[in-house]
Amino acid sequence: MTPAHVWIDGRIAPADEAVLTAFDRGFQLGDGVFETLRARAGRPTELAEHLARMRQSAAGLAIDVPDDLESIVAEAIDELLMAEGLAGPDGDASVRITVSRGPFFGRGLLPPDEHPAPTIVVQAWRVRRPPAAHLEVGLHLVPSSIRRDPENPLNALKTTSRSDYVYARVEARTAGADDALFLTIDGYLSEATSANLFVVRRNDEGSIELATPSLACAILPGTTRSWILRWAATAGLEVREGLLTTRDLHEADEAFLSSSVAGILPVTRFDGAPIGAGIPGPRTLRARADREAFIRGAEAIR
Ligand SMILES: Cc1ncc(COP(=O)(O)O)c(C=O)c1O
Repeated sequence: MTPAHVWIDGRIAPADEAVLTAFDRGFQLGDGVFETLRARAGRPTELAEHLARMRQSAAGLAIDVPDDLESIVAEAIDELLMAEGLAGPDGDASVRITVSRGPFFGRGLLPPDEHPAPTIVVQAWRVRRPPAAHLEVGLHLVPSSIRRDPENPLNALKTTSRSDYVYARVEARTAGADDALFLTIDGYLSEATSANLFVVRRNDEGSIELATPSLACAILPGTTRSWILRWAATAGLEVREGLLTTRDLHEADEAFLSSSVAGILPVTRFDGAPIGAGIPGPRTLRARADREAFIRGAEAIR
């Protein structure tokens, strides 16, 4: 079901109404930032964390966000979920918050001195269960031909300029895979097009380790990634953030992706070759179950 409404700058509008001027810099230049999160039963998950990251992304592009962004967005989400019929006990929504620099009727890249009022948009979609194959068989990832530079300050900003990510997704589709994995310019693992990567393996001391590319590997610091790093202790896993190679992925026992809306998804093949036993592993499945319980509000880990 497609959304019937959108929230824009303080009002609910029909989803198919023209609500933005073509002069909005978000439309013209991808000059904006966004966040996507999950809301179960009308309750947004980790809203504070998402809005903190949104403020950092906006600050990186020198976009002025209102001081009361948090209360504006919380009210907007409430109103929109009600309008979309997603606020009830069975409601399960993916919520996107977009803030663009706003309309500017001149030309050029340099943000105008007069600081247009930013455009704030909230959208919501009903969350569908992932395709059975994603959970039962797991995802096949292929490396993207786009390499990421760890020194690029934009890596950690969630901007609406997503053409690298769209390009990589199209590459994956062309290769018959489910998603693409970015590598850094030095050949280390980075992240997928909209998720962070984890591998599970036995380390030299014989303990089971949960390893993930560090923040120095050109990744977005995912909110779900942070949660998983805290969760690991409860699952008896030792955490290691660092540099990982494609060999680490090929030789892992398990691998998974993490993101706010899709949650935890098993990765069972990389570039045509199976990872571990080539089926979703037990720690991956536990991570998924525990994260879903947390989103439902039924889990102790905060
Ligand atoms: C490039 C990228 N990496 C990682 C993530 C995961 O972040 P989060 O767990 O906050 O959803 C996302 C989320 O959309 C993303 O776009």
